[in-house]
Amino acid sequence: MAIIAQDHIYILETARTHYVLGVDENGFSRHLHWGKKCAPGDYEIPPAEDENSNHSACDAMQQEYTVFGGTMYRPSALKVTFADGCRELELDFFGASYTDDTLVLTFRDRFYPLEAALHYTVYEADDVIGRFVTLKNTGSQPVAVQAAASAEFTLPAREPYRFCNTNGAWGGENRRTDTQLDGGELVFESRKGTSGHTASPYFIAHRGAGEESGEVFGAVLAYSGNFKVQASRDLYGVTRVLLGMNDFDFRYDLAPGESLDTPPVFFARGEGFGGLSRTMHAFAVSHILPGHFAGRPLPVLYNSWEATGFDVSAQGQMRLAEIAAGLGVELFVMDDGWFGERHNDHAGLGDWTVNAQKFPNGLDELIGRVNALGMDFGIWVEPEMVNPDSDLFRAHPDWAYHYPHRRADELRNQLVLNMTRSDVQEYVFACVDRLLSAHNICYIKWDMNRPFSQTGAENLACPQSLWYRHTRAVYAIVDRLRKRHPHVQFESCASGGGRSDWGALMHFDEVWPSDNTDAVDRMQIQQGYSLFGPAKTMRAWVTDISPVGRPVSLDFRFAVAMQGALSLGGNLLNYDEAMLQTCRKYISLYKELRPLVQFGDLYRLRDARSGIAFNQYVRADKKESAAFLTAPYCGFYRKQEPLMFAGLDEETVYTFELFGKTYEKSGAYLMHAGIPVRLRGDSIFAVIHLRAAN
Ligand code: GLA
Repeated sequence: MAIIAQDHIYILETARTHYVLGVDENGFSRHLHWGKKCAPGDYEIPPAEDENSNHSACDAMQQEYTVFGGTMYRPSALKVTFADGCRELELDFFGASYTDDTLVLTFRDRFYPLEAALHYTVYEADDVIGRFVTLKNTGSQPVAVQAAASAEFTLPAREPYRFCNTNGAWGGENRRTDTQLDGGELVFESRKGTSGHTASPYFIAHRGAGEESGEVFGAVLAYSGNFKVQASRDLYGVTRVLLGMNDFDFRYDLAPGESLDTPPVFFARGEGFGGLSRTMHAFAVSHILPGHFAGRPLPVLYNSWEATGFDVSAQGQMRLAEIAAGLGVELFVMDDGWFGERHNDHAGLGDWTVNAQKFPNGLDELIGRVNALGMDFGIWVEPEMVNPDSDLFRAHPDWAYHYPHRRADELRNQLVLNMTRSDVQEYVFACVDRLLSAHNICYIKWDMNRPFSQTGAENLACPQSLWYRHTRAVYAIVDRLRKRHPHVQFESCASGGGRSDWGALMHFDEVWPSDNTDAVDRMQIQQGYSLFGPAKTMRAWVTDISPVGRPVSLDFRFAVAMQGALSLGGNLLNYDEAMLQTCRKYISLYKELRPLVQFGDLYRLRDARSGIAFNQYVRADKKESAAFLTAPYCGFYRKQEPLMFAGLDEETVYTFELFGKTYEKSGAYLMHAGIPVRLRGDSIFAVIHLRAAN
């Protein structure tokens, strides 16, 4: 039984954790505990008392889902305005229903027709809990929702927590930050329409935890639109976190009888960052990713973008495909430039028909050749966008978000389509559906290359709901396409990692974490992504980009890219035989190691920010493991040091090769003593395949 209910107290029990909440005699949802398991009978609801005339009981107590109104002054999860102008909520408990692993607590406003149901699902064995909120208008007039977080958390200790998030940008996604919250507030958010490149829709809170030690609390929002993570700490040391859709420029008018589900949040406790990541990776693969490809290894892909840019043609792509096939590539993806008058980034977006000059015999000539070479074929689209210089825009200038008396700001010469319009949704669906129905296409790279602006949406009575409706529309179209074309894999891309969140992972099979394919930068980007993102969902290309002045070797670039869903993106026409041979060697090795990387337990043994990344992937039965060491440069001063492994079985003896030497060592030795190595020079890398000898 994952849910223990006793006298208005509900204990949500996972393998290692109790999350406990209750409802008090005044009808407030109360947060009671998040941490190690205690005796169920010990939990009780403390009395709620006004601290003083300036600090009400309501403001001071730990609630499970706070609402704006009355003497509540701190950030609250829910704010609405009722039809008569009343802007305050007074929720009262209405009832609880539960099964073995789900709990729903329903609250109703004491006067107005609004219901808020807190839903919890306990994934006991996975050690994860999911939650979301359903708001329902039970009356006959609209209710304006102005803020609706998905979850509110109170952290157990009174000492200050550190919050791990990211502070990135295009080309520099997933760069970790760790900020102590002594008092006041910390906000991580996106206002750009997608989750974006800067902050991440999650939090990891800890008090000095390390990679494998110390308690960490983590929660991730499965949503790709504007989000907000808002942490606050008061004078009494109570740290609270709200997580959900951003209330920035947000409003959603709930029509009579209408319900709104907030995006879900999934949360867990871990031993160190590594413990939390492993829990979340396993959970994402088993419960978050769309079913069809979740349990299957993802193919080795070649993408032509960095090789050809917009200069695509049937012949040029075929030449690349022939070389790629000879290397062991399984999926050939043609990127931007194949449609409409798309010769550069000034025109064509919106016109999803094959350019007849570039493909005089149609797309099937190329696809046929790719298939004959033994590879699947994939293609790039950016369906939420339009160039003003396109037939689509000339026919439907009103299809882009706009205000009649404001300029239309272009970024990359393009505008964002108003995806809340049903005619736009149908057009986008039909374009991609037509492509998939007419051709043997097995892979869609769905791109989205600019933030929103001039977000007028005359079609909506409440235009501020567009932020939410746009994201939902994208999900719905992708889901519809998947249903019609279940064999097609979908990748989420938004100028690199602008939409590489768990919301995307509920609808797409994989993400493009960054346009930056410099293997050295990638060491950090990938480790940052891996905090919540499973390796199999991370496309990782080997390209021709290398740090200027201190290039890294092709082997090094493979050692980095083999740690996700390996892909190639360089201009293969320029590769000499030795380089092609290197590609063949690593692609073949990757296929051997792929089950370990894509489904193993990840240990981040050295932090890439130190200049040396060392990551290990261990099979569940601990009989086999792959480890990747990459250091672009190690100084002459360095002494011999032990290379320590993790996650192995102490008793088992493992054989492997490292820097040309064969080893046979016990798991205990590898984890506690380590193999002495001397790391000096440029492009240091090792791909280590450990196998149980006994
Ligand atoms: C974006 C993507 C790239 C590539 C280009 C094509 O920048 O992130 O991977 O697809 O668009 O225009």
